[in-house]
Amino acid sequence: MKQFLSVHDVPDLPGLVQEALWLKQNPYADENLGRHKTLGLLFFNASLRTRLSTQKAAENLGMKVMVMNVTTDSWGLEFEDGAIMNGNKAEHVKEAAAVVGQYCDIIGVRSFPSLTDREKDYQEQVIKQFVKYAGVPILSLESATRHPLQSFTDLITIEETKTVARPKVVLTWAPHVKALPQAVPNSFAEWMNAADVDFVITHPEGYALAPEFSGNARVTHNQREAFEGADFIYAKNWSSYETYGQIINSDPAWMITQEKMGLTNQAKFMHCLPVRRNLVVEDAVLDSANSIVIQEAGNRVWAAQAVLKRMLQA
Ligand code: CP
Repeated sequence: MKQFLSVHDVPDLPGLVQEALWLKQNPYADENLGRHKTLGLLFFNASLRTRLSTQKAAENLGMKVMVMNVTTDSWGLEFEDGAIMNGNKAEHVKEAAAVVGQYCDIIGVRSFPSLTDREKDYQEQVIKQFVKYAGVPILSLESATRHPLQSFTDLITIEETKTVARPKVVLTWAPHVKALPQAVPNSFAEWMNAADVDFVITHPEGYALAPEFSGNARVTHNQREAFEGADFIYAKNWSSYETYGQIINSDPAWMITQEKMGLTNQAKFMHCLPVRRNLVVEDAVLDSANSIVIQEAGNRVWAAQAVLKRMLQA
């Protein structure tokens, strides 16, 4: 794999899932593959899981890792072509990406959307500029519209915990107090549509995902109907794509409760984390034996390790 920006960069999805599960059992099997190779991790936004799991994955492969919180530790970056840089941006991405590419063999980038300019966000300006100018392979650590390392993790977690061959997987919108990106649900939908699962999306009116992400998934505004017979409930808040970046409904009736989980086929509960308790999901669900959010977060290491391994082998 020459880059990892979405599921479209994976030529053999079932093979990559099996590779990640194998690495979970054999974490140091490739400990020399990344010897004398350096991974740079550039964060324009906060992170706990992505930062630590990707670093651990790289170290399991023998790589050196450099991490930078770009927004606080580096120069303000300009991304507009032809900009007259007389404001507070001291360095253009053309130089910055190319320079980091001199130090690193692979560069990971996390950059969230503005949530104010849909066209620009969905053009993926930041990560595409790194692809264009870095001169080395780029790994998405969550971009404006996708979080592929999270979605790959979610798929391997479903694969290792499913109890039926083709599980019913439900992506459900849940309430939140902040306007959040669509990256996680977009990406989850994209990966589930590429996997062998029965995929359903439920959300209030006005929260439809972009059609290129929802694809052929069944979509319903009736959350209870969606939960019936589900094997996995994947909860996530997102702001509106249609009324871009806005919170148009924060109805607490959409919170995930034990009562609603009772409608399912003893579904496992999933969330990418961080999660706000008793807003998105009630304590009783998160603390139940059916919650697999910690296992899911743990699997971030094996997803990242499988992807980095493929990138090192490219
Ligand atoms: N799920 C996830 O990406 O977590 P972080 O934002 O903490 O990295």
